Amino acid sequence: MLHFSASLPFDRRLAFVDIKGSIAHVQMLKKQGIIASEESEQIINGLEEIRVELEQGQFPYDLDFEDIHMNIEKRLTEMIGPVGGKLHTARSRNDQVALDTHLYMKEEIKALDLLLTQLQETILHLAERFEGVLIPGYTHLQRAQPVLLSHHLLAYFWMLKRDRGRLEGVLKHTDLMPLGAGALAGTGFDIDRLQVADSLGFAVLYENSIDAVSDRDYIIEFLSFAAILMMHLSRLCEELINWSSAEFGFIEIDDAYTTGSSMMPQKKNPDLAELARGKTGRVYGSLIALLTVMKGLPLAYNKDMQEDKEGFFDTVDTLKGLLPLLSEMLKTITVNSSCLKEAVDDDYLCATDLADYLVKNGLTFREAHHIVGSLIAYCRKEKKRLRQLASEIRGRFHPALAEEISSLLDPVKVVEARRSRGGTAPSAVKEQLRLAWKELS
Ligand code: ARG
Repeated sequence: MLHFSASLPFDRRLAFVDIKGSIAHVQMLKKQGIIASEESEQIINGLEEIRVELEQGQFPYDLDFEDIHMNIEKRLTEMIGPVGGKLHTARSRNDQVALDTHLYMKEEIKALDLLLTQLQETILHLAERFEGVLIPGYTHLQRAQPVLLSHHLLAYFWMLKRDRGRLEGVLKHTDLMPLGAGALAGTGFDIDRLQVADSLGFAVLYENSIDAVSDRDYIIEFLSFAAILMMHLSRLCEELINWSSAEFGFIEIDDAYTTGSSMMPQKKNPDLAELARGKTGRVYGSLIALLTVMKGLPLAYNKDMQEDKEGFFDTVDTLKGLLPLLSEMLKTITVNSSCLKEAVDDDYLCATDLADYLVKNGLTFREAHHIVGSLIAYCRKEKKRLRQLASEIRGRFHPALAEEISSLLDPVKVVEARRSRGGTAPSAVKEQLRLAWKELS
């Protein structure tokens, strides 16, 4: 039973925030005259010593004690004697665990936000490096219209901006101080919760002790943020996987992030991108797991809530492992210009522009769409490209099409024409890049 119910194997990573929280608690107890000054000094010295033991890998974990919190308290009492037992005055493990998880979350949010900024910066540098490179843009995975590769990549910059916005929201709902809730009802000791909050850098207090120990919203919000972020990274990686396949042949990823096959010598498997896509599954799983754990739980603490940690920690580790690697991998990408040129040279990609041209000649867009559709159907039947049709033949579909229209069939010109704000013209993308850099700074 002890081993099954222990959280020690996975909650040891809370050791340092546990000590930090305990020291703040003891200082408050002393200031309020709840424990004597020399007692608080002994306890704090003991906790500092334990911190050193932890740092040096000398801490004697004992699985006979359920979690890291009890392990630290037990070790403290071993070191300084029965006075160690005063640490837990006016405190329950319920509010202690809540405090530790909040402190840990706040640190990890800071670290993750930095990694997200770095990924955004990598994307901006890539967008600059690939200036002027055209790719076919797709809808339904069918070639649709030519776009700048930079423009396509920058779409991910803005997704990440929203991800960081969501993370900021998580921080807001994590920046609440739960200690002082006790087991659930508060405490009869004359504590000062504001002092604890101030010394630990919390913005506000939980105003309801039952809410303080029952709340796992901030973890669920974090997992939601992570799930959406992983969805974005998975889409990016899916594109890199497609683009680096022989079928597309648009890009190459450096060998450091791919593997060979044990059987097929020609293979270069985009392992990192595939793992990023695959690990999205466990992050979604952790979100659904915790939502399910919390659903239907009566207030306040229930042992079920110990299940909040593994999925949360696993998600932190997944993101902290993945984000820097993804950034590094992106930096190594090179484009295959000849394949891209050929892909973009498909003049059907310019069909929208032909239709727009007819609109400028007085047709409604629907009429124009229909006419260009027939023209393309004709080309497909005759196995010809648009630019191979004689003007006289084009004229049969509409007189305006008999005019000189070669610039409408040139992907570079077509891209240059999309100057609307947020569009793919080089001038618009330049402006977008300026805004993106401003956003980052
Ligand atoms: N190890 C537990 C957890 O992480 C702490 C238990 C707190 N309270 C209790 N009454 N068992 O959730």
